[in-house]
Amino acid sequence: MPEVQRMTLTQFLIEERRRFPTASGGFNGLILNVAMACKEIARAVAFGALGDRHGSAADGERGAINVQGEVQQKLDVLSNAAFVRVNEWAGYLAGMASEEMEAPYQIPERYPRGKYLLLFDPLDGSSNIDVNVSVGSIFSVLRAPQGADAVTEQDFLQPGTAQVAAGYALYGPTTMLVLTVGNGVNGFTLDPNLGEFFLTHPNLRVPADTHEFAINASNSRFWEAPVRQYITECLAGQSGPRGKDFNMRWIASMVAEAHRILMRGGVFMYPRDTKDPARPGRLRLLYEANPIAFLMEQAGGRASTGRQPLMSVAPAALHQRIGVIFGSRNEVERIERYHTDPADPELPNPLFNERSLFRVSA
Ligand code: AHG
Ligand code: MN
Ligand code: MN
Repeated sequence: MPEVQRMTLTQFLIEERRRFPTASGGFNGLILNVAMACKEIARAVAFGALGDRHGSAADGERGAINVQGEVQQKLDVLSNAAFVRVNEWAGYLAGMASEEMEAPYQIPERYPRGKYLLLFDPLDGSSNIDVNVSVGSIFSVLRAPQGADAVTEQDFLQPGTAQVAAGYALYGPTTMLVLTVGNGVNGFTLDPNLGEFFLTHPNLRVPADTHEFAINASNSRFWEAPVRQYITECLAGQSGPRGKDFNMRWIASMVAEAHRILMRGGVFMYPRDTKDPARPGRLRLLYEANPIAFLMEQAGGRASTGRQPLMSVAPAALHQRIGVIFGSRNEVERIERYHTDPADPELPNPLFNERSLFRVSA
């Protein structure tokens, strides 16, 4: 096989930095530390049951329910600890926030403080761990407001447009790191022998059109009219108003769905619904929706709540949830139009009408 000269993540970051002659290198150090945490988590995930890391954290040393009221898996706890330990010492960060920590994490006094904030979902899709399906980590980097001593929740409540960088690691058949620093999207594959990420997917672009959608259809009775209309039309396929057949996917790991969409297009929806009035959506704005939105938009796709661009939402709370729609631009724009210009609010439930997936028996 001919030898391919590939760029490491380190080389990529150094070459990017040359565009900013005054940059200190701290930002690159931060991204490399995040990559280190992801490599550590990739190893833990890969050992599976052999590492005694499957199952819930109930009998572990930490509590088993996180701030979201969700049962923590052992790997949720371990992954959160890896992110904190690998990032707290270096002097790049003023603070961190995570799905698994109720309050912002303060940099210990023995370490210098830096100018960035790191937000993360240390393990996304963790219900998939025990069944050996792909999971991932998601991260977002913001600038810390100046002059603060200790970080507060307020410091993190910045819109997605303020992100300096965002990305995810996908722990699938291969481990990949997908990153944007606001200059396109690049994908790196982990060489497990060298422990290095290599640039394998430069300048990722999301195709503008697609015939693939991802949604948890078990929530269909709670969907709002615009979402019902869109899915009804997709399910109607070639004989419906769209004039083409669609494919449906649902992995229940948003990272894996986002990756598929970056690779070949598609649309992902976990929209606002009426399931639980206290929860406007399932996914969290600051460390799930916004970083994926930044990646999508940098790759030419689009990300929206249905009513406004996701990254324009002014956050109200650290763990705020939100309706999320992202992927191929033309599809997302169509769904947005259905929200702003609703057709028929009485549209039937697409999964239970006469010609649908589950036919209503007379
Ligand atoms: P997490 O494991 O970090 O709590 O996130 C899981 C999220 C997301 O990855 C996925 O799209 C969604 O939850 C799946 O939800 P359902 O179980 O409702 O399908
Ligand atoms: Mn998640
Ligand atoms: Mn998680």
